[in-house]
Amino acid sequence: MKTVACIGVGNRGSKYLLELKIFHKKEVKPVAICDIIPAKLDRFGKKYKIAKDMRFSSDEDFFNRGPIADGLIISTPDREHFKHAKRALEVGYKIILLEKPVSKDIEETKEIARLAEEKGAKVIVCHVLRYSNYYLTLKNAAESGALGRVISVEQRENVGYFHFAHSYVRGEWHNEADSSPSILAKCCHDLDLIYWFAGSKPVSVDSYGDLFFFNRNNATAGATEYCMQGCKCQRKCPYDAEAFYITDNVFEAKFIKYMPTTVFGKPNPTKKEKREILRTGAYGKCVFLNDNDVCDHQEVNILFENGVSGRLTMTAFGERCERETRIVGTKGEVVARNGKIVLEQYGIKRKVLRNRDIWSMLGHIEGDIRTVHSFASLLTTGKTEHKYVTYINDTVVSHQMAHDAEISRKAK
Ligand SMILES: NC(=O)c1ccc[n+]([C@@H]2O[C@H](COP(=O)([O-])OP(=O)(O)OC[C@H]3O[C@@H](n4cnc5c(N)ncnc54)[C@H](O)[C@@H]3O)[C@@H](O)[C@H]2O)c1
Repeated sequence: MKTVACIGVGNRGSKYLLELKIFHKKEVKPVAICDIIPAKLDRFGKKYKIAKDMRFSSDEDFFNRGPIADGLIISTPDREHFKHAKRALEVGYKIILLEKPVSKDIEETKEIARLAEEKGAKVIVCHVLRYSNYYLTLKNAAESGALGRVISVEQRENVGYFHFAHSYVRGEWHNEADSSPSILAKCCHDLDLIYWFAGSKPVSVDSYGDLFFFNRNNATAGATEYCMQGCKCQRKCPYDAEAFYITDNVFEAKFIKYMPTTVFGKPNPTKKEKREILRTGAYGKCVFLNDNDVCDHQEVNILFENGVSGRLTMTAFGERCERETRIVGTKGEVVARNGKIVLEQYGIKRKVLRNRDIWSMLGHIEGDIRTVHSFASLLTTGKTEHKYVTYINDTVVSHQMAHDAEISRKAK
């Protein structure tokens, strides 16, 4: 039986622990957790029968105990990843599942890669999309020769109006100084996919984009700093916080219902409490009068060593939160959208490689579960289920692309 510890038992950390329990109960056991919120230590400590002296409320105490498990999950907020990954490697953890982004500072990401190499440790970064069979189908199509020689990879990240306003205008990733540019926070997965499909390292990155809409210029007369403090436009505004988080049943908003703690700071708030919290809380802010500064749309063009060109479009504007991919080759193209993948070989045949199915509805099109499978098999057998694991060296490449995109964008 292999053991695992988890630092940051929030949405992601608890999900990974649950997936380990569901799929790998006989091989992997959680033995230690660390989180700054005592209620989480209690809840997950009890759930996973973790000894009281193995529940840590301080990261220093946790790391000072050395490697207390065979593997470590680091699922703390973005700003802590570098510090925690560095400490974990220094104290001797050899197998680490690390949430993205590693750091907004590319030198820090490279430092983790260097340290992992020096310590002989394996750091898997959670670029979960790569692990899903959905994206593996695309990779296989690109590698199979069915497209001829790959010429270009196009990726569209439709963040969607709702998700963007929630996470990148009001939420944790709204401000670059406190988090990171949206091209890293949201799109390091997309850049990783483009790099993976291109099958080569980037040589040139060009980008433009800005914060076009969610700023003071677009506030209507009569708007107030918080939607529920007498805003004259509240009922007509598609970003009304009250509708977003309390009254509206927007399908795309459903995932928020599973995250009440993020929005309201507690798991089961009453309607009255919700209203009180939104009246002055971060998620109750007017989307045009906040201190958000991350881009709401950005284009990135990449040239790879092998001549393949890549293009990423990130946009806040759109009804749905969904990704689209198109890989174009000399003999054919493959298009992935809304859970369906279609291969067309020019003038020869059209084939549906995959239809939208139940797996498409799971977290990151089942990428979360498969990432956990790879982590578990690395722990138990030293090998991974997935052939294309995103070790830290791959992450250096995608993070460097985001870094270079920002340099290019800001220079314009
Ligand atoms: N791979 C993906 O596709 C994906 C998707 C969503 C989020 N994420 C990333 O996963 C990470 C976690 O996101 P989340 O939604 O689970 O957040 P969360 O806030 O739900 O969880 C983070 C947890 O870390 C704890 N924490 C904070 N500081 C700590 C510290 N110093 N020591 C110990 N614990 C600490 C918090 O109390 C919280 O329980 C973020 O970096 C986020 O960007 C990745």
